[in-house]
Amino acid sequence: MKKHLLLVLGCVAVLGLSTVPEATASPAGKCKACHNFGDKNKVGPGLKGIMGRKAGTHPGFKYSDSLKNADWVWDEDHLRKWVHKSKKAIKEFTGDSHAKTKMGNQNIKGKKADKLIAFLKTI
Ligand code: HEC
Repeated sequence: MKKHLLLVLGCVAVLGLSTVPEATASPAGKCKACHNFGDKNKVGPGLKGIMGRKAGTHPGFKYSDSLKNADWVWDEDHLRKWVHKSKKAIKEFTGDSHAKTKMGNQNIKGKKADKLIAFLKTI
């Protein structure tokens, strides 16, 4: 019985440990495949200072037409919609039901989105 309990506790400990990196990792890790959080452009534009930055204006990046002609500033509301479903958001932001973006849906919402937004405010 005691052995069993120890075994269970051991498993919990191992599971607990193995989830630590995920729990502490910023959801921003997902963005890194395509974005630099500084000025450099990668697959996507550099995201430095994204909060409060006008959409589609990062120097040297080849934006889709929708972002090139964007007339909004990235704020919390826009970014939340964007990291959830960018393909839907671009239609809403532009008011054009045919608008497209080169960035795929990231499906980030809820607590993960909270964390991500908090992080984006710091870069
Ligand atoms: C698979 C690649 C990829 C991933 C992953 C990705 N993005 Fe993007 N992102 C892009 C591309 C490409 C663009 C340019 C879109 C366009 O021109 O239509 C872009 C554009 C953006 C923009 C608009 C920037 C501007 O200057 O107006 C923001 C904001 C953004 N991404 C945030 C994020 C965040 C936050 C994440 C992580 C949750 C993320 N992206 C994940 C490829 C990606």
